Amino acid sequence: MSAAKIAPQDQLNEYLAQSKATSFLDSTFSSFMDDRDPLSDLRSEFVIPTRGEMAPGLDRPEESCVYLCGNSLGPLPKAVSRYISEELQVWGEGGVRSHVQHRFGRPWVRVEETVQEQTARIVGAKRDEVAVMNTLTSNLHTLFAAFYTPTAERHKVLIESKAFPSDHYAVESQIRWHKLDPSQSMICQEPREGEFLLRTEDILETIEKHGHEIAVVCFSGIQFYTGQYFEMEKITRAAQAKGCIVGWDLAHAAGNVPTQLHDWNVDFACWCSYKYLNSGPGGIAGIFVHERYATDFGRNRLAGWWGHDKVTRFDMVNEFKPIPGAAGFQHSNPSVLASTALLGSLSVFEKTSMQEMRAKSYLLTGYLYHLLTTEFTSDILEIITPTDPEQRGCQLSLVFKDGKMMEVFDELSARGVIGDERKPDVIRLAPAPLYTRFEDVRQCVLELKRVVAEIYV
Ligand SMILES: Cc1ncc(COP(=O)(O)O)c(C=O)c1O
Repeated sequence: MSAAKIAPQDQLNEYLAQSKATSFLDSTFSSFMDDRDPLSDLRSEFVIPTRGEMAPGLDRPEESCVYLCGNSLGPLPKAVSRYISEELQVWGEGGVRSHVQHRFGRPWVRVEETVQEQTARIVGAKRDEVAVMNTLTSNLHTLFAAFYTPTAERHKVLIESKAFPSDHYAVESQIRWHKLDPSQSMICQEPREGEFLLRTEDILETIEKHGHEIAVVCFSGIQFYTGQYFEMEKITRAAQAKGCIVGWDLAHAAGNVPTQLHDWNVDFACWCSYKYLNSGPGGIAGIFVHERYATDFGRNRLAGWWGHDKVTRFDMVNEFKPIPGAAGFQHSNPSVLASTALLGSLSVFEKTSMQEMRAKSYLLTGYLYHLLTTEFTSDILEIITPTDPEQRGCQLSLVFKDGKMMEVFDELSARGVIGDERKPDVIRLAPAPLYTRFEDVRQCVLELKRVVAEIYV
């Protein structure tokens, strides 16, 4: 499969002809695609829950379920079990000495460095522009502490009206922290009446109109509810031209789409690692701070000893000397188990590239999109994720009509198809390219057809 210059649907049509399958729902087609998938071997790097585990009572209980839920929690990479058991062994054998002496070459005092390079590659950053630390919302606060410096003229924060609630709360509380009123200092970008997606032109218009009073523009790279992949570079450029700082929450973008944070000149970004980065529940999160701030030590920051110069960190002096770059924003010594879980997961990413994953993702999500739009009518389900593959990652968000979303969701889960739901009406399905087969997508649609036939009578 080649990089997606040709529209995914055109490529799929070409493959359909080559496969000699009778239709896209014919298993000949999915096998043909899986056989040609350059990433197909990577599936065996994961423990995919079985049908029996996810839906007791199902036939073929030993077969893997259809796991389309990496947008919420990625499955367990086998390497994680190995790496974690090594850490437990080292802890047991060496106790505190393992901070500096580690039989697997990962002394704990430097554990965060083991995941820095690969993390930077995934988000399109230089090594020193990223740090792996804390959890997502905490990192958003940390970055706001440094980058949200409101003045009488420029005190507003622009976010999506339907930002993930944690981001909304964080931004509101940051505004209040500065003794400002969110009703005056927060602009929530609304979609147009009757629409789900935010149009880039509307975001740019808000920036044009209010940019002079906006301190920070903070959007998600990919919107959690709709799956919309915002035009990050364009928005960043427009907002910076107006003098705003631009930060991105990449919870749903990191490990899903190939961002170029450095080249796009993004000011700051943060993400979690338990979704597409598969590092496990509550996994350690990441930050990006553009290199132009590497030695901007005059900027306010919440300090901690792990952000202090490594050479003198253990001298226990009171004068804080930040590490240049993103690492200087760290607070505490990081969770070794969480960092090592991430390291295990990144060892799978090491075997491919975001570009290769994206090429597969175009086709895989394009396949799901095609089946959903041809096998179901719009009075049953509507896909609210953008039609343009450039404006989405692997997730599709399906609105189910007549208030039947939960019924559909429960029935689909009971049949071993695992997506997730977001109230009021959406089921999210995310065929993540590292471990999802075309056959999984086909199975999902076949099951959904059966479910819909039962529920929409
Ligand atoms: C877009 C987005 N922002 C923030 C969060 C909150 O993450 P955490 O609980 O790791 O802080 C999530 C969690 O799913 C999310 O999807």
